[in-house]
Amino acid sequence: MAGEELRSLADRAVAEIGAAVDEAALEAARVRYLGRKDGALTEATKRIGSLPAAEKPAYGAAVNEAKRRIEAAVEERSGALRTATVARELAGEHVDATLPPRRVRLGRLHPVTQTMRDVSRIFATLGFETVEGPEIEWDYYAFEALNIPAGHPAREKWQTLWISNPLGDDPARPMLGRPHTSPMQVRVMEQRKPPIRVVIPGRCYRYEATDAIRESIFFQYEGLAIDEKLTMSDLKGTLYAFARQVFGSDRKIRFRVDYFPFTEPSAEIAFDCFACEGKDPHCRVCGGDGWIEAAGCGMVHPDVLRRVGYDPKRYQGFAFGGGLERLAMLRTGAPDIRLFYQNDLRFLEQF
Ligand code: PHE
Repeated sequence: MAGEELRSLADRAVAEIGAAVDEAALEAARVRYLGRKDGALTEATKRIGSLPAAEKPAYGAAVNEAKRRIEAAVEERSGALRTATVARELAGEHVDATLPPRRVRLGRLHPVTQTMRDVSRIFATLGFETVEGPEIEWDYYAFEALNIPAGHPAREKWQTLWISNPLGDDPARPMLGRPHTSPMQVRVMEQRKPPIRVVIPGRCYRYEATDAIRESIFFQYEGLAIDEKLTMSDLKGTLYAFARQVFGSDRKIRFRVDYFPFTEPSAEIAFDCFACEGKDPHCRVCGGDGWIEAAGCGMVHPDVLRRVGYDPKRYQGFAFGGGLERLAMLRTGAPDIRLFYQNDLRFLEQF
C-alpha cells in the first residue's frame, strides 16, 4: 500500500467516524480501522517490516499520519456525541430555578421532655440535684418502706402493674412498674447522708384507664429534702418558688390537707384551672372544680426516716411528687394528656 492509498484509507475512516450516529457505531468504526487484531491500519503497520529499507521511512511516516488523523477523528466524534447526549438529557429535565428551596426540618424536644428539663433547672436554682432511679421496682421500695405494707388500704391509690420477676419469681419479693417516684426517696436516703436535696423525674406505671388527665404510663417528678430543722414552711416556700418560676405570679396555688402513709402531715397541691379558670361547671380539664391537683407533698414520716437509719429527732424533711404531664398541660394549655403520646406532629410542632 503506497502513501496515496493510506491517505484515502484515512479519508474514508474520518468520514465514517464523523458519521457515526452513536457511541456503538463509533466504536465499530474505530475497531474497523484501529482494532488491534485486524484493523485496516494495524494491517498496514505490520507490512512495514517486509518493505525494502529505502521505502520504510516514507511508508512509516504515512502510516503514522493516517493513524493520527483517525485517532483525532475518534476523539472529536466521541466528544460531540457526549455533548449531544448531555444536551438531550438536559432538554428532558425541567429545572425551575424559581422554585422555593426545600425546607430543612429541624427536630425539637418533646413538650414533656422540655418540661422535665425545666423542672430540673428550676429546682437546681433552689439547690436540688437531679437524680434518676429504676422504673421496675421492688414492692419494698414502692410500698413497704413507705409505710404501706401488703393489705394496707392505701395501696388502692396506686393501681399497680405487677410484673413477673426476671430474677425468678420470688413471692416474697414481688416486682412492679413503679406507680410513683416516691421509692426513690428511700433509695436516696439509703445511699446518702443528710443534708439531702434531690429532685427525681421519671416514668411511672399504673393499671388505669386513660382519660383527659390520666395515662397508664406517665412521668412524675419527686422532690426530697432532709436536714436539721426543716419545717412545713420550707416545703411551702420551696413549692411557691417553683410554681412562680414555672407559671409566673398569676397562677394560684392551693394547699389542702391530704393523706399519704409516708408523710405526716400531708398536703395536696392544686393549681387553678388554666382551661376554664373556674368558670365552666362542665370543664373537661378540672371537671368544674376550678382546681387541678398537681402534686402531693408532706413532711417525711418519722417511721420512714427510722427505717433508713436516720434519727427523726435530729433530722426532718419534706417530700413532694407530682405529674410532669400535668405541668406540661398547664404550661402549654393542652386540654388532654393523651395528645402528648399520639405523636401527631401538628400538635408536637407547636412547642
Ligand atoms: N407519690 C405520691 C403519689 O404518687 C405523691 C407524693 C410524693 C406525696 C411525695 C407525698 C410526698 O401520689
